[in-house]
Amino acid sequence: MQVITDEKTLRQTLKGAEKIALVPTMGNLHQGHISLVKQALATGAKVVVSIYVNPLQFGPKEDFSRYPRTLQQDLSLLQNEGVDIVFAPDHLTMYPNFDSTQQSTGQQVMIALPEVANHLCGAHRPGHFNGVATVVLKLFNLVFSNGCLEPIAVFGKKDYQQLWLIKMMVQQLNLPITILSGETMRNPSGLAMSSRNGYLTAEQQQQASSMYQVLQQVAQGLQQKPDFAYWQQWAKQSLVEQGWQLDYIEICQQHSLQAAQKEDKDIVILAAGYIANTRLIDNLECNL
Ligand code: PAF
Repeated sequence: MQVITDEKTLRQTLKGAEKIALVPTMGNLHQGHISLVKQALATGAKVVVSIYVNPLQFGPKEDFSRYPRTLQQDLSLLQNEGVDIVFAPDHLTMYPNFDSTQQSTGQQVMIALPEVANHLCGAHRPGHFNGVATVVLKLFNLVFSNGCLEPIAVFGKKDYQQLWLIKMMVQQLNLPITILSGETMRNPSGLAMSSRNGYLTAEQQQQASSMYQVLQQVAQGLQQKPDFAYWQQWAKQSLVEQGWQLDYIEICQQHSLQAAQKEDKDIVILAAGYIANTRLIDNLECNL
């Protein structure tokens, strides 16, 4: 496994690779990430995992500075999986105007996503998805623009809105990239695996697993009584009673991420909220 930190070496190394599968990450890898890596390896492509904590996608009051950085541990996990290349750039490699005093990217060309990026998580994290889309497009350009004929990128369904917006960006910007989606990996309690779970005590993790239980109860309830407004209200109350400080719980159309309508069959229940100071998200697809 080769660990690369600069653009020139990355481009030289990838020159001539016809099929590449990229797994973009912010590191602090867990089994959720590893399942995406396995999916990438199963394509038979040369596998590149990027590790970069992207300042552009964090709000001023968010956890950018304390986000867990565990590079050595991540590298040994990826080595065991048989990954070909890890791309772990520093800030100046990703953002040439990076200002280390302010920890900000400085003047930076950005992707401006349409309105759907301002719903759900976007409503609570202004600019977040524009920051994600910008870094993801930069990673695509760095990894795939060296003669790659079959570019593949793998993203997890846990970040449902992120995955949805990246698919939209790829389609609307005519990027010839196949996007694969990986299922959410869960702890035995049902809690979706996330690097942010590490901020929680064991007791708080147990409490946080109530989000998935509520999502499942809503999905089951909808099969009997397909009343979206009723179940949304029920879930809100139930999560608040279990100690969540909720950002939202919404039942949406899978194809549009807009509020589900009476006749809709393919829906997704999405939720986000805080346990103590830690913001967690989860979702469950449901076909009625
Ligand atoms: O899902 C993540 O870890 C990040 O949002 C991503 C896609 C690596 C972009 O920084």
